[in-house]
Amino acid sequence: MDKKSILCIGAGYVGGPTMAMIAAQCPEYKVTVADINAERIAGWNSDTLPIYEPGLKELVEKSRGRNLFFTTDVEKGIREARIIFVSVNTPTKTFGSGAGKAADLQFWEKSARLIAEQAGEDKIVVEKSTLPVRAAEAIHRILQSNTKGLNFAVLSNPEFLAEGTAVADLENPDRVLIGSMVTPEGHNALEELVEIYAHWVPREKILTTNVWSSEMSKLVSNAMLAQRISSINSISALCEKTGADISEVSHAVGMDSRVGSKFLRAGVGFGGSCFKKDILNLVYLCECCNLHEVAAYWEQVVLMNEYQKRRFAERIVKNMFNTISGKRIAVFGFAFKADTGDTRESPAIHISELLLGECATLAIYDPKALANAKADLAGAKGTIEYCSDPYEAAKDAHAIALLTDWKEFAGYDYRKIFSLMEKPAFLFDGRNILNHKELFEIGFNVYPLGKQELTHL
Ligand SMILES: NC(=O)c1ccc[n+]([C@@H]2O[C@H](COP(=O)([O-])OP(=O)(O)OC[C@H]3O[C@@H](n4cnc5c(N)ncnc54)[C@H](O)[C@@H]3O)[C@@H](O)[C@H]2O)c1
Repeated sequence: MDKKSILCIGAGYVGGPTMAMIAAQCPEYKVTVADINAERIAGWNSDTLPIYEPGLKELVEKSRGRNLFFTTDVEKGIREARIIFVSVNTPTKTFGSGAGKAADLQFWEKSARLIAEQAGEDKIVVEKSTLPVRAAEAIHRILQSNTKGLNFAVLSNPEFLAEGTAVADLENPDRVLIGSMVTPEGHNALEELVEIYAHWVPREKILTTNVWSSEMSKLVSNAMLAQRISSINSISALCEKTGADISEVSHAVGMDSRVGSKFLRAGVGFGGSCFKKDILNLVYLCECCNLHEVAAYWEQVVLMNEYQKRRFAERIVKNMFNTISGKRIAVFGFAFKADTGDTRESPAIHISELLLGECATLAIYDPKALANAKADLAGAKGTIEYCSDPYEAAKDAHAIALLTDWKEFAGYDYRKIFSLMEKPAFLFDGRNILNHKELFEIGFNVYPLGKQELTHL
């Protein structure tokens, strides 16, 4: 085993980009990323990476084949590595006790058992996945139950990257958080991991805490980010009723330096694989601790998000004369945010299902997420067309529902789009990224989110 050898189990949205950054910044380390999903690994070894992130391809190509390797041989990877990051998925449990809230730790536990089985020397195991508080303790127990007398140190090093800006976030993180056990082995392991990040992250941005604080901080960060979105989305509903304008309110409120301007944009609701599952995980933890008021407080963030998605779909139906049955609706954007092809928990899934439930015909366009959209809606009943061109999606449509904040949506020729559509033509801007006045002047009936509509009706 080479001391400067790193393995990451899990080649997903976190494992792939994070390891590519470590390999690029630490050329003296050999970095291997292993996954049981052979198709994913083949993707990482090809010209078409399995995930889209701006700058990721260039980053991977810098080190791949030099000190960055992708493999399905998890066992060999474990035997050869000194430091093992585990970045497998931790979805919400769908069965048994805690179903619908608690994290499903089966993939993590399998990885820990395999590490204990394959290891021939002491190793450092790093929690990269987002885990419930005190997970490190359970993992440590599993690892220490090995019969070879090996010692494992478990560190918590949650990832804070945001999809769509993953490479920039990894290169210049707000902070790197590392939690360790308060033991001499824990401290030594911490030093080894700090040394890796210190290759490019300023020391003052590398925070070290106890392992429980680190696990808790990740859950709380996501809960607070989601809470801001739900807060401003709740106000967007009120703006539509009162004549206030959500963009003006966000701007005015965000200029207060105590509040800050980020994450205050109203939209169709948050998505992504993490926010909902991490809040539910927090809720479950509160319930287990008999903190029912605290649990109810955080659960409301998720409920408000469900309300916002439903509200958007209902607004479409209501304003299109209470029926969209048989009407073609062009869906602009399916990814949960711009600059990613990821559609996990995307509001577009639920909104599409609601519109299909009203018997609308959907014509979906997204620059990067069409393949995932098809998979997400594979079981949905109704007529869906997947379009590789936005103008094709808009042709003969009664309405456009804009669901993702892709920049390109603002640059289209909306005169041409208007001419292609049925009349009256409706446009529901779920992200407030279009020029509403101009669209109204072209002839659209425009429904921005959290603002008064501009209609010719
Ligand atoms: N996606 C994000 O933006 C993000 C950000 C921060 C933290 N996280 C957390 O990071 C973790 C991973 O998230 P992700 O989005 O990368 O998930 P992902 O689903 O994209 O990737 C997980 C990978 O782990 C692999 N895997 C599962 N079990 C395995 C096993 N036993 N051996 C080898 N490989 C195995 C899967 O095949 C999959 O490719 C989650 O806990 C998530 O909450 C995600």
